[in-house]
Amino acid sequence: MAKSKDRIDAGIKKENKNPNRFKGGVSQIKMGNNDVLFILLGATGDLTKRKLLPAIYHLVNDHKIAHFAIIGVARSPISVGEMLAASKPFVKEINAHTWKKLEAASYYLSLDFYHQNDYHHLKKIADDARSKHHLSGNTVFYFSTLPDHFETITKNIHNSGLAEGKGWSRLVYEKPFGSDLASARRINKSIARFFTEEQVFRIDHYLGKDIVGNLALLRFTNRALEPLWNRNHIESVQILFLESLGIEGRGNFYDKYGALKDVVQNHMLQLLALTAMEAPRQLTGHYIRDEKAKVLNNIIVHNVVRGQYDGYLQEKGVSEHSSTETFTAVHLEVNNKRWKGVPFYLKAGKKLDKKETSIHLRLKSVPCLLPENCPTDSNHITIKIEPHSSFALELFARVPGKTLEIIPMTMEFSQPIFTLKSAEAYEILLEEVIKGEQSLFVRNDEIEQSWKIMEAIEKIKTKVYTYAPGSKGPQELKLLEKEHIKWRG
Ligand SMILES: NC(=O)c1ccc[n+]([C@@H]2O[C@H](COP(=O)([O-])OP(=O)(O)OC[C@H]3O[C@@H](n4cnc5c(N)ncnc54)[C@H](OP(=O)(O)O)[C@@H]3O)[C@@H](O)[C@H]2O)c1
Repeated sequence: MAKSKDRIDAGIKKENKNPNRFKGGVSQIKMGNNDVLFILLGATGDLTKRKLLPAIYHLVNDHKIAHFAIIGVARSPISVGEMLAASKPFVKEINAHTWKKLEAASYYLSLDFYHQNDYHHLKKIADDARSKHHLSGNTVFYFSTLPDHFETITKNIHNSGLAEGKGWSRLVYEKPFGSDLASARRINKSIARFFTEEQVFRIDHYLGKDIVGNLALLRFTNRALEPLWNRNHIESVQILFLESLGIEGRGNFYDKYGALKDVVQNHMLQLLALTAMEAPRQLTGHYIRDEKAKVLNNIIVHNVVRGQYDGYLQEKGVSEHSSTETFTAVHLEVNNKRWKGVPFYLKAGKKLDKKETSIHLRLKSVPCLLPENCPTDSNHITIKIEPHSSFALELFARVPGKTLEIIPMTMEFSQPIFTLKSAEAYEILLEEVIKGEQSLFVRNDEIEQSWKIMEAIEKIKTKVYTYAPGSKGPQELKLLEKEHIKWRG
């Protein structure tokens, strides 16, 4: 049976206690876990070619998996050579020997997610590949496709017996997980009919980024930071997800989702949860997910501004009178002892003046003892995630040669410190799936809670204001500024 909790739990409980868990992908995968069959559901898609196949290539090249096979499936009648060729330009520094290994262990099957019979063909290919490549039965099913298909594929995998037999079976679901609370609940329910939560890995690829994994470590291993990390010292928190690109031909997808569902519901609420959570009992596995879930359960929505860039309605795949937001700014509050009264501002948008993902904690001001020229702002702690990761502390210091004049001075630790081995997020995430370690993945209750927050935001009916491409967003962003916010980007 696929729902074999004992078999699955045995490996996981041991690994959740691994104290090295947050080191982000440089460890060796344990023996017994180093063979795996990847079944990529949606193998002709953008994600498979850009991220998944390159990530598997690097796991093989870095000797993180010894024995493997890949079966790609989608409807298009392509060859396995075409599937691999599409991905080759996205692999960094190809080693010819590793690429040959990949070619020798890859298969493609034209399959329709909705045709039960196709899964029997897939099972035959999977069984043959397991035997040919000396695989023990461990299988990763990667759902690299839209959430509309998740329930059907899950049921068909179960009914065809693909997840039965020796070894473990783990199911990886891409984001977005559903399109609203009702659909997320429905998908969770249908997964739970056939598989245990320990077999389920819901992707938020931001959690695979080194600097994001580092956030909890920075907070909870440094005495210099943790005492400041609360309402007594922090005046406000900003989380920015700014993109200079537009929707890049993804109009059909984007127009149904918009900025709130595309990035706020997942990446930004996960960053908020990691920033605001209490210290977990241990910086591992389900302890972190418990604390993140508590934050998401305590969010109050105060205000929202929505925008749409000028020219969006002319994009391919966008409906003529679409009111989908390509920009949003949201004011939230975490209603607990640590954060009560501290505004959390989230700002996200397409076609803005720059690309940046970052978290900014603005500290409260100290009483100014200078006779004049007191600073108009206060200290900041900044964590930058993209385009370059860094951790910075902004302090005031004397202007050289001037007795009583001060300027802000930034102490910044940048990328090399955080990413000694800069594995791509998807490589780290696949490695964690193979280990059975779930803390970089989103639990069923976290997903449902974040969709509840989306519902609360959607209840606030506001206009969608137009903004100029290349700008900082709509002028009406001022509607939030009455709350004294100074945007950091
Ligand atoms: N692209 C990225 O960089 C990225 C980043 C983060 C998250 N994601 C998420 O990952 C998921 C996949 O994204 P994507 O960009 O790869 O999408 P995509 O390019 O539209 O690919 C979807 C895949 O699903 C297959 N498919 C659709 N209907 C099918 C059916 N009935 N039977 C069998 N196969 C079917 C398509 O193949 P055929 O048409 O050949 O059947 C294609 O291989 C999405 O949920 C997306 O939001 C993508």
